[in-house]
Amino acid sequence: MNGVSSATGYQAPTVTVSSSLPARGLSEAVLVVGVVTGDDGPVVALAQTHVSAAATAAIESGLKALGGTGGEGQLHRLVIAELPVASVLTVGLGEPRDWPADTIRRAAGAAARSLDKVSTVVAALAAVDLEATVEGLILGAYRFTEFRSDKTAPKDKGLGKIIALAADAKAATKATAQRAVDIASSVATARDFVNTPPSHLYPAEFAKQAKALGESVGLQVEVLDDKALAKAGYGGIVGVGKGSSRLPRLVRLTHKGKGRNPKRVALVGKGITFDTGGISIKPAANMHHMTSDMGGAAAVIATVVLAAKQNLPIDVIATVPMAENMPSATAQRPGDVLTQYGGITVEVLNTDAEGRLVLADAIVRACEDNPDYLIETSTLTGAQTVALGARTPGVMGSDEFRDRVAKLSQEVGENGWAMPLPEELKDDLKSTVADLANVSASRYAGMLVAGVYLREFVAEDVQWAHIDIAAPAYNTGGPWGYTPKGGTGVPTRTMFAVLEDIARQG
Ligand code: BES
Ligand code: MN
Ligand code: ZN
Repeated sequence: MNGVSSATGYQAPTVTVSSSLPARGLSEAVLVVGVVTGDDGPVVALAQTHVSAAATAAIESGLKALGGTGGEGQLHRLVIAELPVASVLTVGLGEPRDWPADTIRRAAGAAARSLDKVSTVVAALAAVDLEATVEGLILGAYRFTEFRSDKTAPKDKGLGKIIALAADAKAATKATAQRAVDIASSVATARDFVNTPPSHLYPAEFAKQAKALGESVGLQVEVLDDKALAKAGYGGIVGVGKGSSRLPRLVRLTHKGKGRNPKRVALVGKGITFDTGGISIKPAANMHHMTSDMGGAAAVIATVVLAAKQNLPIDVIATVPMAENMPSATAQRPGDVLTQYGGITVEVLNTDAEGRLVLADAIVRACEDNPDYLIETSTLTGAQTVALGARTPGVMGSDEFRDRVAKLSQEVGENGWAMPLPEELKDDLKSTVADLANVSASRYAGMLVAGVYLREFVAEDVQWAHIDIAAPAYNTGGPWGYTPKGGTGVPTRTMFAVLEDIARQG
């Protein structure tokens, strides 16, 4: 640890692709092999080209002797004399079938989590699905040690090298592996930001790190400080930020796609570096989870960086409001009225509904760039968790685009689910003094009411999606699959899949 953390603190392992199992140099490596359930016990999955018949038979009989069946989620370590590796780790995949990528990704993630003090992995599992295996291994091996002193820091360096066994090592296969490395590294960046405590990640510092990261991959970066925000009329960001001694920022990161008349996508992410609730203060229990209230911002920054790394032929412009929601003598009060960027006035009935205030400003600014699409994501409502649970983001917005985003989110295993924005909920946001109130008096449909609020600020002709990741951004339960405790990086892979889809078909 060195005082100020960096978003690039986590070093992803290096990945090489090989079409055969190297005969030498693996005396400390672990071979990760997929196994399926067979009529007569566990069967090694698709590793025949890489692992000899004798070694395959030894793995299968050894595993059977340990009681392994190849059932989904089972992990076993074996020593196989026929192989040039220190040991074999089998991962159960269940019945042989055409596995969804996320089954393989989770299996690889669980495998990586079970490997302590192993620096090199040879992944025969990659023969089943190269990209999912590499992503799963990197995401599962992720750890955040920035703030541990020698007293509790891990003694080893973690997973450093992955040798992925594939059918060939041609350029296209290597590009697939590199794509997986880039995606997983961006998810790790988002996780690092979320895991960095609020003492060390406050608006000015977050903006500084986002700028450095963006410039390192060739993005154009603009940062508005508190004075510039006040001058330009960003009443929502200023109102939320003014209770803190650590003043707000607005960061804009632009990736210019090469090609004629590229589609343009705006990304907006909620960057509340800590949410106490403000004067409408939250209860003490679990308030520390609010370190994750910049999870949307983290994912949006990670996604635009990934778009640049992967050279997507579209314009991607991220607009990221950053503020700390604190109670103090200078904080906004319940009942205050502020003017959002663009002119709509809002009665702040509850200072804990701060996300929509900073987002409305950012959405109006993002729409000034005339995007074709706008994706906004935020840890916006506790109601998301009530409606959908800890692992399912709620996706709202323009019907068609919302469904497209939800479908792609399912495909990448982040599992966003489409939700409606009923017209009548707008009546719940009527104010007696201003254009809008920031909360409804009713307890019904809190996630949807927040979406209805945001809809008021999206320009007419823009296809938009709002992804509520209140719980999915931050895992407060035990680790599972490739998801550790703490920051998850959700919905970075969803947004990148949408960008790639737009790059392909408009
Ligand atoms: N950041 C919270 C939402 C949240 C809650 C995220 C739990 C992650 C876990 C947000 O700013 C908030 O406080 N929302 C209020 C809105 C309410 C006042 C209308 C909520 O959900 O209680
Ligand atoms: Mn809040
Ligand atoms: Zn919040």
